[in-house]
Amino acid sequence: MKRNWCILIFLFGFNLICFSQIRNEVLLKEGWKFTRDDNPEFVDPDFDDRAWQPVVVPHDWAIYGPFSSQNDKQNVAITQDGQKEALEHAGRTGGLPFVGVGWYRIEFELPDFAPDRQSFILFDGAMSQANVYINGQKVGEWPNGYNSFYFNISPYLVSGKKNVLAVRLENLPESSRWYPGAGLYRNVHIITTSDAYIPIWGTYITTPVIHKDFAKVNIRTKVCLPENADPGLYTIETVIFDSSHKEIQKTKTSLTSLLYGDISQEIVVKNPVLWSPDQPVLYTAKTFLYEGTTLKDQYSTPFGIRSIEIIPEKGFFLNGEKTVFKGVCNHHDLGPLGAAVNDAAIRRQIRLLKDMGCNAIRTSHNMPAPELVKACDEMGMMLMVESFDEWNTPKCKNGYNLFFDEWAEKDLVNLIWNYRNNPSVVMWCIGNEVPNQWTEGDCKIAKRLQDICHREDPSRPVTQGMDAPDAVVNNNFAAVMDVAGFNYRPFRYQVNYKKLPQGIILGSETASTVSSRGVYKFPVERKAMQRYEDHQSSSYDVEHCGWSNLPEDDFIQHEDLPYCIGEFVWTGFDYLGEPTPYYTDWPSHSSLFGIIDLAGIPKDRFYLYRSHWNREEETLHILPHWTWKGREGEITPVFVYTNYPSAELFINGKSQGKRTKDLSIGIDSTYTDAAQKSFERQKRYRLMWMDTRYEPGTVKVVAYDNEGKAVAEKEVHTAGKPHHLVLTADRDRLAADGEDLSFINVKVVDKDGNLCPDATSKIKFKVKGAGVFRAAANGNPASLESFQKPEMKLFSGQLTAIVQTISKAGTIIFEASSPGIKSASIKLISE
Ligand code: GAL
Repeated sequence: MKRNWCILIFLFGFNLICFSQIRNEVLLKEGWKFTRDDNPEFVDPDFDDRAWQPVVVPHDWAIYGPFSSQNDKQNVAITQDGQKEALEHAGRTGGLPFVGVGWYRIEFELPDFAPDRQSFILFDGAMSQANVYINGQKVGEWPNGYNSFYFNISPYLVSGKKNVLAVRLENLPESSRWYPGAGLYRNVHIITTSDAYIPIWGTYITTPVIHKDFAKVNIRTKVCLPENADPGLYTIETVIFDSSHKEIQKTKTSLTSLLYGDISQEIVVKNPVLWSPDQPVLYTAKTFLYEGTTLKDQYSTPFGIRSIEIIPEKGFFLNGEKTVFKGVCNHHDLGPLGAAVNDAAIRRQIRLLKDMGCNAIRTSHNMPAPELVKACDEMGMMLMVESFDEWNTPKCKNGYNLFFDEWAEKDLVNLIWNYRNNPSVVMWCIGNEVPNQWTEGDCKIAKRLQDICHREDPSRPVTQGMDAPDAVVNNNFAAVMDVAGFNYRPFRYQVNYKKLPQGIILGSETASTVSSRGVYKFPVERKAMQRYEDHQSSSYDVEHCGWSNLPEDDFIQHEDLPYCIGEFVWTGFDYLGEPTPYYTDWPSHSSLFGIIDLAGIPKDRFYLYRSHWNREEETLHILPHWTWKGREGEITPVFVYTNYPSAELFINGKSQGKRTKDLSIGIDSTYTDAAQKSFERQKRYRLMWMDTRYEPGTVKVVAYDNEGKAVAEKEVHTAGKPHHLVLTADRDRLAADGEDLSFINVKVVDKDGNLCPDATSKIKFKVKGAGVFRAAANGNPASLESFQKPEMKLFSGQLTAIVQTISKAGTIIFEASSPGIKSASIKLISE
């Protein structure tokens, strides 16, 4: 937005002097040089870096592999998972080469910089332990790899000449529990202002009063003036625009010598349109700073008008309406793109989650990318924004515990200032299963961190995810929080609710059900920590970890206990690292927890959540597939995930009976082993035919509404031989900006179009025209294939190929081929 202003002013013919008096922002994307060598001479502006690798930022140096069991092999006992002895964890952090040092250098000119102006460098995140140098001088450092940070670089710049920026990053071994990514994986901005300016993150907008007819908008603005300036000469004007960019209100305030650090203004907006996931309406506040009549700075803040409230015993209320979190936890990696941030990839994730009925994401376990927060604001997705996976007691030897004491407050302040204007952010989360939760007295640390959040943003509640429910209830850890967030163990909710003062319970992390897309295991039994030779878990959605459970064990709590405010499922998407339960079973190196796999293809579980969470649209999904050569006559249960109350199943036209969701099943009667074994809770949410036997042909389901009327049907057929490829792009009109992506689903089907569910054929990709092949993934958590090679094997008959635009408009043709199978191509338009 800020950049747009500059462009606008330029277009409307202001001269360069005027242009250069206001704010200007550039993104440093092209022109970087990169090396994995390490040498103090790299800071020298005259150092010859021509032999270094040219890269474009955002850049994740480790995602290119190769995979190896030796990359960050951790010989540790994961005590929070119940391990008593050290085990060799090869794929814990994804098996990718992120450990070690990386240097980036770039030359840049800042035509609008002059000695009487200010320039700042803003990193959206740099992985990790960033040391930043300009023209050979150290500017500053920031250890946390996920947080945004900035420095004033004015004293180090030379005007009218090339400047050299050098950044040293270092990732220590055993510093993470998942794949963190590596390098300048988020954007780097240079912002130049006049000598009087509004600092980065310098506005704070709240909407303390909201009625149907009007809302009061409070805008606090920080202003920085040159030394010895007379504040009385300055004014700030804030103008509010609605979502169609129409000016609706404004106010002007003169600065005085007493009042110029932090100015508070109030604007009344009539008939406000409130932000919500269903209606993500944004307003924009534009702030103008004047010295006399000269415009010195302008700053734009998108915001939403919405209220949040937690009412004991009743729940969480958004705009006065009780709202249950139908949330997922997500790590930051984007599967085959690694940690390198990409707007199109983020927006695709949000689209898929919204289709499932999901209304919230927990940014586990760290600060999100600004692109995610912006997309959530614009697309309608609530966020629980998290800061830390550990405090000063280590989970990982070289994790954030090394920095916590010195950096925790600075990290929290940056995080909160960065995102306190975003309406999607509804809660802060100060920790995830921090080992400090076991220590008597460490509730003081929890309180201190929560107090920092309240000090910087009194408008949002604070929680943390605790996985030791009894310890934290007994040592006050849970009691000091605004919201007691429990990770797993929903069977303790009722007991602990009675002991806690808040009158509400959040399922801050739930389920950890494990499954592999399209892989089914027999017999169909509930199992914990089950491992198989093929390194997969059953897509019947009956397997979980030792500490976790099945989706229905959480559904029932949040439906039946009025004080439960909803859940964040572990996880929305599979991620790199944590291949639990295959801790030590290389080549397993990515998770099986996702509702959606690493390629972004929904697993069966997606439809279970969708049937429960998305009440607007029909869900009628049959599992498993029906191509079981060799299982003829064997018991092959059929499950149907649907939001209809009942359905009848037919195999080759023969009725297998009707099943109806059993709504009489309650929480208390279903804790027993026997109830768990016989899937009692599942009977309330899934329709299950446990005794059906496989015979090739057709499985058909007919769904009935509450009146017993047949309202929908679906069929799955036994597939014949692989015949042709089918391509489906998530978007076929793209922006010619060199960054936009199309995600193309590639699947192999028989001559009648039925998915061949165990096909593993290798597919080759070609991209012609105005685009390039970017990456591919197949969702197999044990596959060591390169993400960037334009060929990959199908997993359960499918994979995803990603095409990126170049910065020239035109047609893109994507082709997929495999010997013996009819190839396919698809046309995309880049404009
Ligand atoms: C939790 C933890 C997550 C992940 C998950 C796997 O205890 O918070 O980060 O490790 O377990 O089940």
